[in-house]
Amino acid sequence: MSPLIWSHTCLTGILAMDDQHGILMDTLNELRSAISHGSKETEEVLHRLMALSMLHFDAEESLMSRFSFPDIEVHRAEHQRLLAQLADFSNSYAAGSTGRERTFVDFLRSWFHDHVEGMDQHYGPWLRERGVS
Ligand SMILES: [Fe+2]
Ligand SMILES: [Fe+2]
Repeated sequence: MSPLIWSHTCLTGILAMDDQHGILMDTLNELRSAISHGSKETEEVLHRLMALSMLHFDAEESLMSRFSFPDIEVHRAEHQRLLAQLADFSNSYAAGSTGRERTFVDFLRSWFHDHVEGMDQHYGPWLRERGVS
């Protein structure tokens, strides 16, 4: 499992969202480290990642809604899909080791990478053209 590394391709140009993406990546790297060391902190980090993801998705959706971003529903559905997968994994983990911890962290890593460098890049220009920075 390799860590998520910040790069300029992650930038949306919206300061609050870029800061939140940095915090999410740090937390995901923390989860990766906890899982690979079999740390007892794993469940706490997992819950924190879920809470931060929820806050971030709400913040992003509020901005998109306030500025009438056209693709908001597709974007929101993608956020919901990830939250459902996080909740499902968290429930399984709470019931005992799932045996797929590493696979799930790899999935999260790909998801955040693809989402921040893909879908999240679309609202940047739209919001910046409307004075958000
Ligand atoms: Fe997003
Ligand atoms: Fe995002």
